[in-house]
Amino acid sequence: MTSKESGVSALSIFTAPTASAVTGAPAEAPVPAARPCGEREIPAVLGADLEVPVRGGRLVPYANLDYAASAPCLEPVSAAVAAALPAYSSVHRGAGYASQLTTARYEQARHTVRAFTGARPGDAVVFTRNTTDATNLLARSLPEGTTVVVFDTEHHASLLPWTDPVRLAPPAFPGEAVRAADAALEGVRGPALLVVTAASNVTGELWPIAALAHIAHRHGARILVDAAQLAPHRPLNLTALDLDYVVFSGHKLYAPFGTGVLVGRPDWLAGAEPYLKGGGAVRAVNGGATAQDPDAPEVEWHDDPEARHEAGTPNVLGAVALAAACDALTATGWNALVREEGRLLGRLRAGLAAVEGVHELSLWGPDHPRVGIVSFVVDGFTAREVAETLSNEYGIGVRDGKFCAHPFVRHLLDAVDTSGCDPDNAVTASAVRASIGIGTTEEHVDRLLAALADLTSRRG
Ligand SMILES: Cc1ncc(COP(=O)(O)O)c(C=O)c1O
Repeated sequence: MTSKESGVSALSIFTAPTASAVTGAPAEAPVPAARPCGEREIPAVLGADLEVPVRGGRLVPYANLDYAASAPCLEPVSAAVAAALPAYSSVHRGAGYASQLTTARYEQARHTVRAFTGARPGDAVVFTRNTTDATNLLARSLPEGTTVVVFDTEHHASLLPWTDPVRLAPPAFPGEAVRAADAALEGVRGPALLVVTAASNVTGELWPIAALAHIAHRHGARILVDAAQLAPHRPLNLTALDLDYVVFSGHKLYAPFGTGVLVGRPDWLAGAEPYLKGGGAVRAVNGGATAQDPDAPEVEWHDDPEARHEAGTPNVLGAVALAAACDALTATGWNALVREEGRLLGRLRAGLAAVEGVHELSLWGPDHPRVGIVSFVVDGFTAREVAETLSNEYGIGVRDGKFCAHPFVRHLLDAVDTSGCDPDNAVTASAVRASIGIGTTEEHVDRLLAALADLTSRRG
């Protein structure tokens, strides 16, 4: 049920609500701690003082270097959720004040995400469970006969939802990506969609999404950009980049309350079968065809994409959290965030390059721009051995494996030469990934580098 349908105009009780009025943060709400960085202040994350046990039972401060999997919660996000909780109530289906307030917060979150992504005025902003859910929603909304073109370098969330996509091999350089997309879309009849990740979850490397959007549009195709790893690190602007759709997840954007989002053109979504069928997605459920009206539909679905695809009670707190994260990042300013990340990433990559036997994975070479994600292998040790040692002996959290990007990681690992120490290919079956963000410190980076130097010195 929409607010229109319930007769409750949630926003009407607030004329032009401000973000703080809608998040309802009380005047006396504690001001979150902030970490100074140049002229800007970067908000703190929860868990910065977390201590974890290491071998021998000692407790050490946790060095979280696994942001690309799930980032910690920003303090302003936690504060916004705490402020929303006392009035927590139903959304789009209640006349009570708390329900109106909660509905207003939910819809305000949609406005915030719209602004954060630079969406066009008519674009849909559909809340989903996560990025995977959002790509699957778009996959189910494609017009019949849509040709989908996707690179083998994608995360499984962007690689797998499509039926019989055209798969493109990992391009040797960014211009090759554009050329390959151009060739794949040449001569395609009917609707087409190019799918690409803006920043790789394996190497952090940035993809030429503006150029790819341009090529897609030249062929009359659309482009979906998986921004799960871009959104926490760089500004995103659908309008400026001329993107048709973007998807990303709250939990990678410092808002771990279970929401993702699909933002983009409304027409395919409005024409698709509702993603979930149930309350909220319908305008009316009728008696069906009668002798007088043989064409009367039994169910009248909403046309607007948000209502049509968000059946059931939505995850309000997830949406509030996501919006608070968008607000906090915007308020901090991307210059400060990008500068601080660049400083730490430079330190990390230079340090890794200096440890003998550590090989960074890269598609387009060490100088290609990237976000704060680095994957590597270590001569003589499997990725699992490295990750377990870092955790058990040094209190460092990283990820090991193929990062839900199996074809891409296989491709990258094939290019790493560890033949001298890895005759059985055991070491290069998977990789280690360190990823950083707000809350990462020099000490975390230096501890990782010292631990790797220590580990590699144990090689026989
Ligand atoms: C680039 C990319 N796309 C999609 C996903 C899937 O995100 P989620 O697990 O939130 O659905 C991830 C998660 O690692 C990712 O890194």
